[in-house]
Amino acid sequence: MTADETRKRQAIIDACRRMNALGINQGTSGNISVRHRDGLLITPTSVPYDAMTPEQIVFMAMDGSFEPGQKPSSEWRFHLDILHARGDVNAVVHAHPPYATILAIMGMEIPAVHYMIAAAGGDTIRCAPYATFGTAELSDHAVNALEGRLACLLDHHGMIALGASLEKALWLAVEVETLARQYHGCLQIGKPPLLTSAEIERVRQKFAGYGLSDT
Ligand code: 13P
Repeated sequence: MTADETRKRQAIIDACRRMNALGINQGTSGNISVRHRDGLLITPTSVPYDAMTPEQIVFMAMDGSFEPGQKPSSEWRFHLDILHARGDVNAVVHAHPPYATILAIMGMEIPAVHYMIAAAGGDTIRCAPYATFGTAELSDHAVNALEGRLACLLDHHGMIALGASLEKALWLAVEVETLARQYHGCLQIGKPPLLTSAEIERVRQKFAGYGLSDT
């Protein structure tokens, strides 16, 4: 294993631990993948993050194949399909953040309640329809909901955030949970006024200069 691969494997484990420490995930509900050579590195299924070792991270080829005896995340299919579909993306973070998941359970998308939604690529964060975890159906729904976006909610499930790097994908996952929390808070008071699509587009352009264009 090259030093670069070892570093990537450890970065994935560190990101899993940060995800839980940041409160955007709990237990082993999340999973992470990073593009690597002609495939991806992905977290193993159901291994507690504190016990996860670099050797347990699975290398998967772009045809979905992996070494016998390895145990990739049960959600490997959407990780693979997203990395196939999105040349702009090098990292996929999936988690079950409390507020994002509350909205997802209600089948709600996040509208433009705050200009930071532009970091997710548009004026909404869509909610993909429900399908059983680990299925091709869920993967298709996720890829569709992510079209032109870097994040989506998953009905009765959780959230996916994408990035050009793992750091950016994890950063965006926290931003999405913050937006979900803000929107949830607004809904306690009433129907929040929204920013226009034109304004979100303007913010997106400004983010380009701010270093957030390729989040
Ligand atoms: P894995 O442990 O297989 O990654 O699955 C966690 C999960 O909850 C999938 O949504």
